[in-house]
Amino acid sequence: MDIAIIGAGNVGRSLATAFVRAGHAVVITSRDPEDAGAVAAATGATLSPSNRDAASDASVVVLAVPFSSATDVAAEIGEVVRGKVVIDATNRMSFGADGPDIDTATSNAEELAALLPGANVVKAFNTLFASHQADPIAEGVQLDGYVAADDDAARALVLELVESTGLNPIDVGPLARARQLEGLAFLNITLNIANGGSWQSGWKLVGAPVALADAA
Ligand SMILES: NC(=O)c1ccc[n+]([C@@H]2O[C@H](COP(=O)([O-])OP(=O)(O)OC[C@H]3O[C@@H](n4cnc5c(N)ncnc54)[C@H](OP(=O)(O)O)[C@@H]3O)[C@@H](O)[C@H]2O)c1
Repeated sequence: MDIAIIGAGNVGRSLATAFVRAGHAVVITSRDPEDAGAVAAATGATLSPSNRDAASDASVVVLAVPFSSATDVAAEIGEVVRGKVVIDATNRMSFGADGPDIDTATSNAEELAALLPGANVVKAFNTLFASHQADPIAEGVQLDGYVAADDDAARALVLELVESTGLNPIDVGPLARARQLEGLAFLNITLNIANGGSWQSGWKLVGAPVALADAA
């Protein structure tokens, strides 16, 4: 696949590493070309001069920026991602009087879809800490890569991409399931904060969720 990663931080670097290792062609951008260039050099990706250029030449675009940058990025790439797959790997968290909190009435992915009419937005990779986005094994166990999308073909393509990186791909259904996927990430983050964790924990659904007749 031809993949553009927007954002060259922890997630951009890890996903570039995983995608290049899986044999995909990867371009990467950030607002700081020196920074993104260093990540490109380290991972085998190619630096792209702008978010729009990166998205124009790719068939799959990955949003790996803080969600506060999503509106700016959407304005830059909106025209060129019509009909394309855009993967939302972002998470969110707010801090209230009682500590970390999350609004479960919507999701970043659904908000991104509203910002990118015509694009096929897919939620994926957000439940994995960056460390495990490039290393799908935790304590000897293959971690899950959950994928949510409204478009069946886009979901199938991203399930294939997830599997190519060594994760166990799990189809969780429509894009609205991103609310729960962002909740899973939130829970893992707050557990690591509360316990001074090493940010190595990851999600694995044990026991295949298939009909008994299929499992027999
Ligand atoms: N860290 C994790 O383990 C993890 C795991 C799953 C999901 N996530 C989510 O993934 C996203 C990225 O997290 P991260 O840890 O990689 O953050 P990070 O290390 O702070 O990196 C963010 C990257 O986005 C770039 N960026 C910001 N605004 C941009 C714009 N308008 N155009 C292009 N690039 C832009 C930044 O570079 P410039 O400022 O130079 O542009 C930087 O390279 C967040 O939404 C986070 O919630 C994080």
